[in-house]
Amino acid sequence: MMDRRLVLEFVRVTESAAIACSHLVGHGAKDEADARAVSAMRNAFDRVPIRGTVVIGEGERDEAPMLYIGEQVGPGRDDLPEVDIAVDPLEGTNLCAEGRPGALAVLAVAARGHLLNAPDTYMDKIATGPEGHGVVSLRKSPAENVRALAAAKGRKPSGITVVVLERDRHEGLVRELREAGARVFLISDGDVAPAIATCMPETGIDMVYGTGGAPEGVLAASALHCLGGCFKGRMNWRSEAERDRAIDMGMKDPDQYLELDDLVRGEVIFVATGVTTGPLLKGVRRVGDRLFLQTLAMRSSTGTVRYVETSVKAERFEMYAKNGG
Ligand code: FBP
Repeated sequence: MMDRRLVLEFVRVTESAAIACSHLVGHGAKDEADARAVSAMRNAFDRVPIRGTVVIGEGERDEAPMLYIGEQVGPGRDDLPEVDIAVDPLEGTNLCAEGRPGALAVLAVAARGHLLNAPDTYMDKIATGPEGHGVVSLRKSPAENVRALAAAKGRKPSGITVVVLERDRHEGLVRELREAGARVFLISDGDVAPAIATCMPETGIDMVYGTGGAPEGVLAASALHCLGGCFKGRMNWRSEAERDRAIDMGMKDPDQYLELDDLVRGEVIFVATGVTTGPLLKGVRRVGDRLFLQTLAMRSSTGTVRYVETSVKAERFEMYAKNGG
């Protein structure tokens, strides 16, 4: 059992990442914004009492200087709990760079071995609220899924809103969803936030559908695990070489239809801080000499959902702007 006080420690971690990249919102510098978030998140982990291993992060050790897959974070003492960590210090680098809604700093933490070590490839995904259990499936067509979810929610298909990443690969999917009667909202980036929003009826989002990042799939599944939502996934390999490598790395069936508990099991802590304001969270805002932040923090074992409102002295922001952490 993870100590519940860790939740607030992890809130500090995503807050640090969000603050660090917030001064670059709208400045068109996505790599710089990402680097700032990564470095701040990496430093913030040093103060969290865990023996953490990054299982989903910034890529392989040779391509990422920090928060690479396999990196140990936290002070690492033997008496501290061993956990696996999935991070996306800046989910939606383009959203941040272009000042668009919905950029987040995100992490999920579970006991060792309880998060899928998803390679950095694509994943076909469906996310819905709790009504989707036993109803939606990647084996069904998009039209069937719209009709089934509408029936489960006691609505007509025209009452279903589906969020889809605006990509050429989704042209057929969007057409089929619309022909089935659904309303399709296209987003330029960032499919984690709308996946979480499917469990929050006031957002009006019923389903997220399509192909996006596999690491983002595990993060979304972790959040939905806390909220009782439904997530279906299937790796969508970009090449045969990538698929073969996954088999070499121990993946038994690379074409498996993944259920939520294939992606994440047991007790999970999920935390996300808004970088730019979106349907889920408010972004980092500066008012006078303070910065205001909003964070969603959840624990699967209790189902607790917290919104943490924080204000910090903006001097801290100046410090991050100067040295990134
Ligand atoms: P980054 O934060 O790495 O920029 O990813 C954002 C994102 O939009 C994810 O939310 C989504 O899953 C993925 O990229 C989609 O990938 P692609 O842009 O290659 O279609």
